[in-house]
Amino acid sequence: MSNATNNTTTTNSNNNDSTNQIGLEKADMSHVIAKLNGLLSSYHMFYINVRGYHWNVKGEHFFSLHPKFEELYTALQIQIDEIAERILTLGGTPFHAYSDFTQHTGISEDKNVKDGNTCVRGVVTGLQELIEEQRQVSALAAENEDQGSADLVDAYVQEQEKLVWMYNAFLAQ
Ligand SMILES: [Fe+2]
Repeated sequence: MSNATNNTTTTNSNNNDSTNQIGLEKADMSHVIAKLNGLLSSYHMFYINVRGYHWNVKGEHFFSLHPKFEELYTALQIQIDEIAERILTLGGTPFHAYSDFTQHTGISEDKNVKDGNTCVRGVVTGLQELIEEQRQVSALAAENEDQGSADLVDAYVQEQEKLVWMYNAFLAQ
């Protein structure tokens, strides 16, 4: 091609081995990737907890809570995929084994919960943990010029903060 010999400006970031495919420093991104994999683990644990609430909830609020929990775990499933694909975009490998999720999650298993209010308290606790982890991811990503990861989790934080208010309003009735 006509510009094949024009290689005098090879010092730009696109040709730099220290950067990933979107021009961010690999060394910096390894920290963001690790944090995102921790978040991905918490999402998986929360997801399976919410499925349990959806299946097992009993009592007078069954018909309102059962579909609400389905709505929540469906949103989590989409977010899980977006976080995993962000990790790949940054040049990392998303965790995909439960043994990794259980080691790195900030949310613990919630087993055999049936009472509606207990399920909702589990939802609030899980959302609060995700929000906290995402604030940390956002700060770390922003420090390292990774606006894409910061924006991704910031949008989740805003949505989940509103859910905390709504689920807490349910508990206050
Ligand atoms: Fe269902």
